[in-house]
Amino acid sequence: ILTQLDLLQQQIPVPQWYSVLPAPIRVVLWVIGLPTLIIGLNVFRQVALPRNKNLPPVVFHYIPWFGSAAYYGEDPYKFFFECREKYGDLFTFILMGRRVTVALGPKGNNLSLGGKTSQVSAEDAYTHLTTPVFGKGVVYDCPNEMLMQQKKFIKSGLTTEALQSYPPLIRDECQEYFANTLGINPSRPSSKKVDLLHAMAELIILTASRTLQGKEVRESLNGSFAKLFEDLDGGFTPLNFMFPNLPLPSYKRRDVAQKAMSDFYMKIIENRRKGETDHEHDMIASLQGCKYRNGVPLTDRDISHIMIALLMAGQHTSSATSSWALLHLADSPELYESLYQEQRTKFGNPDGTFRDLTYEDIKECKLLDATIRETLRMHAPIHSIYRKVMSDIPVPPSLSAPSEQASYVIPKGHYIMAAPGVSQMDPLIWQDSKVFTPTRWLDEAGVAAAAVEQYSKSEQVDYGFGAVSKGTESPYQPFGAGRHRCVGEQFAYTQLSTIITYIVRNYTMKLEVPEFPKTNYRTMIVQPMNPLVSFTLRKQEV
Ligand code: HEM
Repeated sequence: ILTQLDLLQQQIPVPQWYSVLPAPIRVVLWVIGLPTLIIGLNVFRQVALPRNKNLPPVVFHYIPWFGSAAYYGEDPYKFFFECREKYGDLFTFILMGRRVTVALGPKGNNLSLGGKTSQVSAEDAYTHLTTPVFGKGVVYDCPNEMLMQQKKFIKSGLTTEALQSYPPLIRDECQEYFANTLGINPSRPSSKKVDLLHAMAELIILTASRTLQGKEVRESLNGSFAKLFEDLDGGFTPLNFMFPNLPLPSYKRRDVAQKAMSDFYMKIIENRRKGETDHEHDMIASLQGCKYRNGVPLTDRDISHIMIALLMAGQHTSSATSSWALLHLADSPELYESLYQEQRTKFGNPDGTFRDLTYEDIKECKLLDATIRETLRMHAPIHSIYRKVMSDIPVPPSLSAPSEQASYVIPKGHYIMAAPGVSQMDPLIWQDSKVFTPTRWLDEAGVAAAAVEQYSKSEQVDYGFGAVSKGTESPYQPFGAGRHRCVGEQFAYTQLSTIITYIVRNYTMKLEVPEFPKTNYRTMIVQPMNPLVSFTLRKQEV
């Protein structure tokens, strides 16, 4: 260090007093002085120098490059709401070298989720995270127009007929899991304390593989597949999002697992092509034979990578949602009882049992539907949706701060971020926005009903995967909006509804922690912390 300092000293003129200081003091001066100088200059630049009035205001930060990473990462919603107070619906923050412009509220959501492909790109924002996990050639590792067609192929695999076949399969998996894996059955102690998130993660992958992913994946879940999934999942973290390539073991394990999992799906496809017919009409079967508009068929590799993408897309989103929903139910015995009564009234048999739930029945369960909607309102699994800005975006005057003379421009090279969770929790839009109130969704005249109306029945647009309601200006967007809107929504609702119904029919629940679990924002998907609950078997198992 001293040699380096001496070299530096020869190049930078230093005062006489510095040269006579003892070496250790000189080191301490540099170690403390240099960062102080950098921080000081950064603060001075922000508070004393005039800023470009055409650019959105930048969130005040001390450390250049690192910016507001800690403030945002610790609790994104606290960050968004506090910044909105200070800067309005549009502001830029520094996130480890990236300049991220947050556009809040329905107008902000529209700006980023409804943006043109010439202006915003999801591929450029996400490919470094997703391609090493999903594999090449699909989703964000191909032109947007191909992704739109892939989404169309996925949708064509989720027909009403396919969805109708899922509830009985999901129910069987639930029965097996609760009775045998968790061991809550009449012959054993009929009550058990469990980590809900862990249990739901297991149940979601079991049920998704039994239905969408197919028999072969389900059969391998107890063996090699589970380990591959774990390693691949370890490559889908905020660290991977920030730093695509680090020389860490988890990155290596991710790459090995990606190759192995891709080969695993390839083998399934090959076997089926050779005449293996013992499988349901699952997604693999549906994707085989799909062709792009130009006549080029999906390759086996493409199918394998789409299957991995679907596995990853549905896993944490649905396990977090089911966990949050069940936590609220455990926290509210009255709501739990009302859901039980909904089941009894609609599907109860005189002998105390229930008839099996069908896909059509799910639509009849209004309170259940409202419970899932409300869960997604308060706990949208994805708190930040990023796009890379590909060409300057002029901001409509309604989003620029009223005090500013000029309208803002979000420059090429920035990221633009939507945070639909902010409008979903906005006290100006939702009455008692912080209170879990499923019944708000049953009130036709309520503000929530108007929001969902805007989301699901607004202008219909076909981005290339069938007509969907545009919904980019809705204050309720748990499944996103615009061209990147989720295509797994119906599957997720079927899966979540069937699992929750099974639990409500057969068990009572109790929170086993002193207060309602807080939120962990350090994972890609918003999850509950320490979600301990107990399940107790109702008198009669059904
Ligand atoms: C896209 C949420 C379940 C497949 C999205 C987006 C959101 C979302 C917010 C938009 C992302 C963006 O704009 O960048 C959810 C939630 C789920 C869920 C809350 C469950 C509660 C699923 C499931 C699947 C799935 C089960 C697969 C079966 C997809 C796909 C996309 C997507 C393929 C399109 C990505 C794109 O076009 O860029 N999801 N999702 N999702 N989701 Fe889901």
